Amino acid sequence: MELPNIKILDEKEKVLHQVSKEVEFPLPDEDKKNIKDMLKYLRMSQIEEYSNKYNLRPGMGLSYVQIGVLKRLFVICDEYEEGKFKDYIVINPKIISESEEMIYVGEGEGCLSINREVEGIVPRHARITVEAYDENGEKYTIRVREEIAVAFQHEIDHLNGILFTDKIDAKNPYKGKNGAREI
Ligand code: NI
Repeated sequence: MELPNIKILDEKEKVLHQVSKEVEFPLPDEDKKNIKDMLKYLRMSQIEEYSNKYNLRPGMGLSYVQIGVLKRLFVICDEYEEGKFKDYIVINPKIISESEEMIYVGEGEGCLSINREVEGIVPRHARITVEAYDENGEKYTIRVREEIAVAFQHEIDHLNGILFTDKIDAKNPYKGKNGAREI
């Protein structure tokens, strides 16, 4: 597999703090190609052979703004079983319900735009239901839970110009831990 030619922006880039705009359909071919490239990049980053060869940090989610395009679109590539991947293409997402139960990633969240160690956690809803569109403009509803729910909420934040580090209280980086379950 050849690594797609995409450049992921670092947190220093101001565009990452801008709010992305609603996507209009039909999607231009360029957007469809970028979706494929972003998913391929994520998949390769999770396969040791390629992450070593290309020196990639493993990542499961990427928002369009992270490659500099301010459109409400993100992708997730989840290795749900050894060597098996499920792709999600999520456009113009709206959260329509969220669980009361909160969870957090014990080892901390990661982000391909944040290239440093970050101390702290981000409490997220354990389950959410999202309405969104696929790359063909078809509307769908999806309910996600656990790490996929965290990934969706992390990416939806990106579309609103928010990085996970913005949600960590520097004075109390484990704020919210008591009311949430570690995953
Ligand atoms: Ni991120």
